[in-house]
Amino acid sequence: MTEPLRLGIAGLGTVGVGVVRIVQKHRELLERRTGRPVVIAVVSARSKSKDRGVDLSDYAWEDDPVVLAARADVDVFVELMGGSDGPAKAATEAAIAAGKDVVTANKAMLAVHGQALAEQAEAAEQVIRFEAAVAGGIPVVKALTEGLAGNEITRVMGVMNGSCNYILTRMQDAGLSYEAVFDEANALGYLEADPELDVGGIDAGHKLALLASIAFGTQVDFDAVELEGIGSVTIEDIDQAADMGYKIKLLGVAQISGRGLEQRMSPCLVPATSPLGQLEGGTNMVVLEGDAVNQIVLRGPGAGEGPTASAVMGDVIDIARGLRIATFGQPANTLRKARPAQSAVPAPYYLRLQLLDKPGALAKIAQALGEAGVSIDRMRQYGHDDAAAPVLIVTHKTTRTALNEALAAFPATGVVSGKPVAIRIEAV
Ligand code: NAP
Ligand code: HSE
Repeated sequence: MTEPLRLGIAGLGTVGVGVVRIVQKHRELLERRTGRPVVIAVVSARSKSKDRGVDLSDYAWEDDPVVLAARADVDVFVELMGGSDGPAKAATEAAIAAGKDVVTANKAMLAVHGQALAEQAEAAEQVIRFEAAVAGGIPVVKALTEGLAGNEITRVMGVMNGSCNYILTRMQDAGLSYEAVFDEANALGYLEADPELDVGGIDAGHKLALLASIAFGTQVDFDAVELEGIGSVTIEDIDQAADMGYKIKLLGVAQISGRGLEQRMSPCLVPATSPLGQLEGGTNMVVLEGDAVNQIVLRGPGAGEGPTASAVMGDVIDIARGLRIATFGQPANTLRKARPAQSAVPAPYYLRLQLLDKPGALAKIAQALGEAGVSIDRMRQYGHDDAAAPVLIVTHKTTRTALNEALAAFPATGVVSGKPVAIRIEAV
């Protein structure tokens, strides 16, 4: 096979420029590994005149990515613009209709339109690959669709948003508030143009929904992801959870059981000594569990020019080698519609409450928990400050429903000041 594989790249931002750099730097390596030249035929971005720090003079230019996607001199459409709809979706559809394979880093588009696009691509005998869309440079899609394909996957879990992990670890290390570190991260350019995509858990939720589809053979269903961002995490909880041996992470968990498909992206406590607990800064970690392999842990850069372009090129190389895997690891028309789980698998919870300095106060709280069927595993009370003392409780495994029942009973005890905090503790 000596025909070149010709790329049409739409989007020359962080990731697009990274891909151009790899193609230019590794021309010989790519040909040696795939048996054919991998070349860029045409590129597109909003501004033709912007200096992007790479030489684009050998490539044709198209203003319109939809036109680029259908050009006769393009074999693979590389979509690196972003956005769930708009030009990214229109150009992807145009590429498939014109008989092109697609490589994209766009989790937002696939989390919303993945099923329809996969069906369209497979009907046209084209492939859509999206390694770069989940956890940047970590080859987690490849791990699930190829290396672990002989396993029934039991759980997928991970820290998949580097910005949130940076904020949470920086809060702990510097003893700063969420607001202070948010402003710092924003000033450093660590957050998306719409920061809510990061701190609201949406970006990570997109990634979890994509992994859940591959892991469980289900249609991607982002709307069913239970989302909670990190905006309510306080430095008190970070410090006091640390005292109890835990770290707080924005953790994604997907698992399927008789309850249905559970997909959660929310702040959770994990043991400080676990690999997830030790994950610092902007790094990502994905934990995959299967019936044969047991557990594997993948760790690496979840964003940035080089790591994300590395993942895009992994997909391009697969296509150049003739590897054609269905978008979500099995034909799109065989993916089941999963019933969303109405409640999460029971887990221990961390509770933090301010308890008034009154006789019998602890007993009243223990009684409210007991009456709701929630059993206390460990408890710690700190010194009183202005008549109230922080009390930390770690429960045995319980349901969120039972815990909510206990929390609802707290005000009537007359011994709790302010709103208690409850955070799930995930077994990892
Ligand atoms: P970016 O730096 O904002 O670049 C976006 C590029 O798309 C720009 O070159 C922009 O053109 C171009 N563009 C936007 N709208 C366009 C349109 N209508 N027509 C033609 N070109 C258009 O974004 P990025 O960080 O590279 O991200 C690209 C994709 O990769 C997104 O889906 C993102 O979620 C995903 N991703 C990014 C990272 C990361 O670390 N950055 C990691 C994983 C996944 P101009 O330059 O002329 O404005
Ligand atoms: N904003 C994302 C993160 C990078 O912080 O991980 C791209 O998904």
